[in-house]
Amino acid sequence: MHPARATIADYNMIIDTLADYWGERDMRARHHPMFIHEFGDTALVMRDGSAGMAAYLFGFVAPTRVGYVHLVGVRADSRRAGLGRRLYLEFATLARDRGATALKAITTPTNHDSIAFHRALEMSATQHIDYSGPGQPRIVFWRDLSAAGS
Ligand SMILES: CC(C)(COP(=O)(O)OP(=O)(O)OC[C@H]1O[C@@H](n2cnc3c(N)ncnc32)[C@H](O)[C@@H]1OP(=O)(O)O)[C@@H](O)C(=O)NCCC(=O)NCCS
Repeated sequence: MHPARATIADYNMIIDTLADYWGERDMRARHHPMFIHEFGDTALVMRDGSAGMAAYLFGFVAPTRVGYVHLVGVRADSRRAGLGRRLYLEFATLARDRGATALKAITTPTNHDSIAFHRALEMSATQHIDYSGPGQPRIVFWRDLSAAGS
């Protein structure tokens, strides 16, 4: 399995099977076709033939030269096999090639799996009160891409 550019067919399949990646969390509103139509060169999937799509990552390079990962989801039956890490590595390469000097992502303070995952990728984690609005704290992950080998 290798990271590949996501197509609109991939996007449609993801939308149809969101619970496989996110469980009971309703993530429909966080998905938007602009991640394929406008930011498709930094939208990645890992296809696994028989079962469909094992993992995906939607992100973009902001004008601030930040490579922002909006969503990374690995199907529940495919976790802890390094797929999330591989998607991030590929995104970091694509983002750096497009001028990014850092990687950023956010998550909720209760998403312990996400926090452990992003820390394992050597991203710093800082809690910001009201980041996503009043009473909506978020953990902000950050990693500099400017250092050699990062
Ligand atoms: C978070 C998520 C993307 C991780 O994907 P993954 O493919 O399972 O992660 P990897 O196998 O690449 O893990 C890399 C490292 O991260 C850490 N890690 C990943 N998941 C972890 C968990 N649940 N608990 C503790 N550490 C974890 C480990 O150090 C792991 O390395 P190891 O397996 O050699 O110990 C996946 O759990 C997921 O899709 N969760 C639901 C969606 C979500 O919350 N996404 C993030 C918010 S946008």
